[in-house]
Amino acid sequence: MCGIVGYTGREQAAGILLDGLRKLEYRGYDSAGIAVRNGAEQAQVVKTLGKLDSLISLTDGGKTLMGKCGIGHTRWATHGVPSVANAHPHVSGNCRNTGNGPVESAVVGVHNGIIENYMELKEKLLTHGYMFYSETDTEVLVKLVDYYYRKYKIGPIDAINRTMVRARGSYALTLMFTDYPGEIYAARKDSPLIIGRTEDASFLASDVPAILNYTRDVYYIQNHQSARITPDSVTFFDLNGDKVVLPETHIEWDALSAEKDGYEHFMLKEIHEQPKVVSNTLKALDFQSIGLTDTVLKGIRQICITGCGSAWHVGMAAQYVIEDLASVPVRVELASEFRYRSIPFSEGTLVIVISQSGETADSLAALRKAKECGLMVLAVVNVMGSSIAREADFVLHTVAGPEISVATTKAFSAQLICMDLFAIQLGYVKGLISQEKYDFYIKEASLLPDKIQMILDDKQKLQWLSTKLAAQKSMFFIGRSLDYSICLEGSLKMKEISYIHSEAYAAGELKHGTISLIEEGTVVLGVMTEKSVLEKTYSNMVECKARGAYLVSIVSGNTGKLKEIDFNICIPDCDAVFTPSLAIVPLQLLSYYTSINRGLDVDKPRNLAKSVTVE
Ligand code: G6P
Repeated sequence: MCGIVGYTGREQAAGILLDGLRKLEYRGYDSAGIAVRNGAEQAQVVKTLGKLDSLISLTDGGKTLMGKCGIGHTRWATHGVPSVANAHPHVSGNCRNTGNGPVESAVVGVHNGIIENYMELKEKLLTHGYMFYSETDTEVLVKLVDYYYRKYKIGPIDAINRTMVRARGSYALTLMFTDYPGEIYAARKDSPLIIGRTEDASFLASDVPAILNYTRDVYYIQNHQSARITPDSVTFFDLNGDKVVLPETHIEWDALSAEKDGYEHFMLKEIHEQPKVVSNTLKALDFQSIGLTDTVLKGIRQICITGCGSAWHVGMAAQYVIEDLASVPVRVELASEFRYRSIPFSEGTLVIVISQSGETADSLAALRKAKECGLMVLAVVNVMGSSIAREADFVLHTVAGPEISVATTKAFSAQLICMDLFAIQLGYVKGLISQEKYDFYIKEASLLPDKIQMILDDKQKLQWLSTKLAAQKSMFFIGRSLDYSICLEGSLKMKEISYIHSEAYAAGELKHGTISLIEEGTVVLGVMTEKSVLEKTYSNMVECKARGAYLVSIVSGNTGKLKEIDFNICIPDCDAVFTPSLAIVPLQLLSYYTSINRGLDVDKPRNLAKSVTVE
């Protein structure tokens, strides 16, 4: 969840580190810090509480820190409150303050992940005279490396390997050793870490956008591997300390796609990119080439879709579409639950893991569990080269490009269209969709980008509505079947960035409790794009109005008069399979403008992180 950067080369490091951290701030933003080494001098550590801007102003944009080798971190607190002492980098020295400044230390490091047995390791280190200034597991990890390094008088890689054997949990660890100027060391287990190279410099990052300005040639360090990084080379090692050769990967994303490109926020930019993203994802879909041949598809008897957050909502939508078009039973499980359940799966089960980042800890664990059970796994991921992409049997790539805003929008839309096309392909291969119907669906899908654009072009009225929503204490989203899945996502978008309490309910469930929460003026937003159940949901809306609710509806095409509705949002007509791709767009815009009207930080909502790589 935190962001890591590292640089060693011919330039002053601090500015490059701060630039990288700026690109990673979406991964965590409650404190930040950098450590820079000037030649053989001790590392200079600077840490601040709050967003990166305080670190930038404290170091005058990095100018005050001399040196060409350094590491940096932006934190999303797990162990210990956000504070300067708990902020990274952490040092191995027995300092009594917060670890800021030059501290006599053999090792200084930053870490992303969670060390599960850190208390046990801490106790061991206490008995060896180590003192701790923070509450973090990271300080323990850095001191454990220091302990092995000094006790056995071994090199950095051996000390790191011994530490990896003892530490349980997940980590992307980046270290500098005082005895090794100009060098950075790294290790990884289950938390993402990439190493980029140019002719005369090396870069480290927990995520691609941090180094896109400098290089697109990267290595993905694997689990239980370590690396020695110098300005001229990078060498990888396995747990035995033997050298390993990793393939270099070229990242296709360009640097501009990780910039705001004139938009006020990444979220707004990403919402507006959806026509292009849906179109690119459609063009890239090729089931045969990823191994989902007709024979494989015909063998699928049952599907389990898993993921977290919005990715799980895509699963909820896909469930309706797959069962409807391909007549294959589908269950949808939260990855955090799936990993701890014993689900009796029959032969021919396909597990689909949906994830933008491809690094979400629970989704990765669910994938591994499915594989342990001998099940086939299809990953729907946005970040190629990510752990989930690497470990799955089949990978469908959502071509959304880098998504920076914490609240997902364009990746969600890309996942939706991927799953729709998967359902259509499955139905077609199973002989349940005729050639004519298949062609019709493909044509309908190809019209979506223009229809999404039409919704984007008509956003003024949503801006107006959001001024009303901004004053709400609580909101309800209701809908049936596919519309219900969009309510789940619309409601999540609203609460995560506007901090307004919001709930999504299957419309038929209202009477079983929720309706008691409706008061005078409570906004009830009904997603009613499905003609077959529109009247039912409309009746539920009217019941709310009778209790004082203000009704907002989203309908598809011409539905005739719904006279009790206070504010109607009409989206272009399309086949029912694809309505979620359109219905979600006004809901994203509504959340965005509501958050703006409440004066909040849209791209970096409080307490949240883009990529949840801890459990
Ligand atoms: C976080 C993000 C959500 C995302 C979820 C799953 O909570 O804020 O937007 O849906 O993680 O992430 P993934 O990368 O696996 O799609």
